[in-house]
Amino acid sequence: MMKKIIIPTLVAALFLAEPITVQAQRKTTKKLTSLSKPVDQPMDAFVSDLLAKMTLEEKIGQLNLPTGGEATTGSAVNTDLEKKIRAGEVGGVFSLTTPDRVRKTQELAVNHSRLKIPLIFGQDVIHGYKTLFPIPLGLSATWDMQLIERTARVAATEASADGLNWAFSPMVDISRDPRWGRISEGSGEDTYLGAEIAAAMVKGLQGNDLGAPNTLMACVKHFALYGAAEAGRDYNTTDMSLHRMYNEYLPPYKAAVDAGAGSIMTSFNDINGLPASANPWLLTDVLRKQWGFKGLVVTDYTAINELIDHGLGDLQQVSALSLKAGVDMDMVGEGFLTTLKQSLEEGKVSEEEIDRACRMVLEAKYKLGLFEDPFRYCNEERAKKEILSEDHRSLARQVAGESFVLLKNEKNTLPLQKTGTVALIGPLANTGSNMPGTWSVNADLEHTQSLLEGMKEVLGSQVNILHSVGSNLLDDASYQERATMFGREIPRDSRPEEEIIQEALATAQQADVVIAALGESSEMSGESSSRTDLDIPSGQQRLLAELLKTGKPVVLVLFTGRPLTLIWEEENVPAILNVWFGGTEAGKAITDVVFGDVNPSGKLTATFPKNVGQIPLYYSHKNTGRPLVEGKWFEKFRSNYLDVDNEPLYPFGYGLSYTSFSYSDISLSKDSFAAGDSVTATVTVTNTGNLEGKEVVQLYTQDLVGSVTRPVKELKGFQKVSLKPNESKAVEFKIGVDDLKFYNANLDYVAEPGAFKVYIGGNARDVKEAQFTLNE
Ligand code: BGC
Repeated sequence: MMKKIIIPTLVAALFLAEPITVQAQRKTTKKLTSLSKPVDQPMDAFVSDLLAKMTLEEKIGQLNLPTGGEATTGSAVNTDLEKKIRAGEVGGVFSLTTPDRVRKTQELAVNHSRLKIPLIFGQDVIHGYKTLFPIPLGLSATWDMQLIERTARVAATEASADGLNWAFSPMVDISRDPRWGRISEGSGEDTYLGAEIAAAMVKGLQGNDLGAPNTLMACVKHFALYGAAEAGRDYNTTDMSLHRMYNEYLPPYKAAVDAGAGSIMTSFNDINGLPASANPWLLTDVLRKQWGFKGLVVTDYTAINELIDHGLGDLQQVSALSLKAGVDMDMVGEGFLTTLKQSLEEGKVSEEEIDRACRMVLEAKYKLGLFEDPFRYCNEERAKKEILSEDHRSLARQVAGESFVLLKNEKNTLPLQKTGTVALIGPLANTGSNMPGTWSVNADLEHTQSLLEGMKEVLGSQVNILHSVGSNLLDDASYQERATMFGREIPRDSRPEEEIIQEALATAQQADVVIAALGESSEMSGESSSRTDLDIPSGQQRLLAELLKTGKPVVLVLFTGRPLTLIWEEENVPAILNVWFGGTEAGKAITDVVFGDVNPSGKLTATFPKNVGQIPLYYSHKNTGRPLVEGKWFEKFRSNYLDVDNEPLYPFGYGLSYTSFSYSDISLSKDSFAAGDSVTATVTVTNTGNLEGKEVVQLYTQDLVGSVTRPVKELKGFQKVSLKPNESKAVEFKIGVDDLKFYNANLDYVAEPGAFKVYIGGNARDVKEAQFTLNE
């Protein structure tokens, strides 16, 4: 979500004033840092020593995370920030950037508060900082862990120069419901892939040393199960069996914790009757005791206050519940700040609980090196040099190109020749501000090219590019207003629809080929952007139908933050390229792919259903006792629908290339194996087309008999291989006992002996199969 820019008067007065000189800053820094230099003191001793010096009020102050006002997602905005920092009532500030502002704020803490404890500075650095990469769902479609890690590294490099040391990322919520707008912010539906990406993101953000000046502390979110909101409506209730939680939804959070994430954010939602932000089972039993998490637990934005509306009590009561459950830091709501003292006096919380939370905040600061140098993350020179650098932008262009998914390409409509005349038509053709996508709070919108601008720059005079808007984004003006908020406006064309379409058709008639840039605006997905109708908006569909009637070849360049329902488009449009929201360099990257400089290789990480009624639709479902008979789409008294088959339109893992690949049968190194051993499954993949291309080779297994029911397929590995025309590669996957483990009815993590199927292919549907046995 692109957040509303609100700078409360007091904060604005403080931060928009002239920066003090660099020389003066250095002097102050030196004087202050010597007060609390922990370099040769181990963390525990240092923090215990500091805690012993703190008053109760100062301890509670550390648990407070107010906003600096640059971006907010709710109505609460904190006031009196300067006063509170001086009084030691603030542990960190969220949403405040640039070295001079951060430096001035930090100076308040380390110059003017009694104990001079430095502040921590956090923000939503989700898919890039100023150099934006594709939205996370798009990033996941690259299936390239090294590339994803590099994007997080770049994000951390830029943000840490600009004053930040804490990123509210990665978002690892599994979602199987594309109605939920925040599916765009995660890595899709799959547990295994989600866990791999979670770890890659943490590594990229934190690097090898949390204290290095160019790394950020990761904050895994939203713990937990936020992506399973009922009916796909944001913030809604989640009710889920432990079996499903442990096997399908919790592993990505755990993977991020195992990768060393320094912090975790509690989610807004209710989980089986107790909201996450007041859930001791989740925050203490699972997180601390079972997983051994040693970092900081922060709430989501005003999540403690929202417990009042959940019906758990008044602010004092819910704040106490939250602290006792295991929350350490309160984002924005100030429930901790305003009620914990009274709760302590009344015996509703203990000093040990406050100390525990305070220790977690202080430890995070220690690990970040802030006691050594509170200004470590403010570096004007580095900010100037690195933010939006050539290297970063070229990585953004590369990654965007790898994230696009070619959904259909009849008769090799794509790639287009770099010659003749192209008509680029649609409400998303010339909207640069929409390119970065949701959660790009620091995007440099002024310098983000639209597709039209990118195309013109890349193609120069080789291709004659005509443009017409063709339709409004949405027929309903108030819906359009909701769907293009926060600086992502798409102006409405007030002419009659017929006139707008006719102009576009006349433009199309002059061209050799039509590119229709259609779909969602960036604010139609992301936070608080759930939808119940997942078609391309009707006005745009009418435009598409009219463009097809011209008889010109039509390429649909589809912008979306979620799986859409595209049955009509699949039946009628010759070529569909899904480009998500590709970030700072999307305009150029789309041109690269459409005109063949880059061969698409993205593969879907969330199933595209045929219609909304099929949702939730995901490849790793259970078989049921009445599965469909193979080859049939309906049979009475089977688990199916009368009006649509059970198949997705585009399955998980799906995506085409400008070349084609064939798969040999699977060869297994043995038919059976036992603990301590493994089996190797090998396929030979051949590029059978005329262009060099990349293929994501996917490995799935199925546990045929279990003590509990098991999914029909589970992703267990993947490799992205690059092949020249006619080239073949043997792709090997080693499968060991650990790969076959799952949580049984007692929640023990076990592999059960018996028969397994192994599937390998280019998506979850089109696979080769073989079978092996796991012996006792
Ligand atoms: C979102 C979080 C985000 C936080 C701070 C909330 O509304 O749910 O994902 O990190 O705001 O911006």
